[in-house]
Amino acid sequence: MHADLEQVLYHESTIFARLDELGREITRHYRDAGGELAVLAILDGGLIFTADLIRRVNMPLQLQTLSVSSYHGGTASSGTVGFPGVALPDVSGKHVLLLDDILDSGRTLAAVKRRLVEEGMPASVRACVLLEKRKRRAVDVQAEHVGFEIGDDFVVGYGLDYRGRYRNLPVIGTLRQECIHPGDR
Ligand code: IMP
Ligand code: MG
Repeated sequence: MHADLEQVLYHESTIFARLDELGREITRHYRDAGGELAVLAILDGGLIFTADLIRRVNMPLQLQTLSVSSYHGGTASSGTVGFPGVALPDVSGKHVLLLDDILDSGRTLAAVKRRLVEEGMPASVRACVLLEKRKRRAVDVQAEHVGFEIGDDFVVGYGLDYRGRYRNLPVIGTLRQECIHPGDR
């Protein structure tokens, strides 16, 4: 799988060092906020990031998940965000921290935030993403905690997929052109 990478952007040790910092940042914020912390992981992309990050958050929390998708196989956002038959977890009165792999067009985060606020009655909603693409978003939304800012390249690894593959790569990198279907290039 490593052989399919054009360039490694972040090695595992770099990712872990940044997670240590994010864990401390998040712990500090929510200790001061008081009340219950509910971590809501956005699946599937946020799975690996969530597992590693919450073990660096040093306070009681509850873990819940939400399956959301805005990509349908290729390398560009589809424009629609789906919650296929998914019920929201109970977040009433809780401080919700959304965790996702990457903030790209912003549609996913905006849709989840909107539904949480409209239906969930949380005490607060913040977001933490491992990666943020440095570009103009289709939707105006921000993540309060960001691991790394990247350019507009399509990346895989550490939870991020291309057509369902590469999530188990321990590093984050760009794919070689020949590994991308001609229609997606
Ligand atoms: P958004 O709704 O456009 O912000 O996209 C968020 C979702 O699109 C992420 O949770 C990813 O699943 C996917 N995504 C966006 N950019 C990339 C990328 O570079 N590689 C892999 N998946 C991506
Ligand atoms: Mg994805």
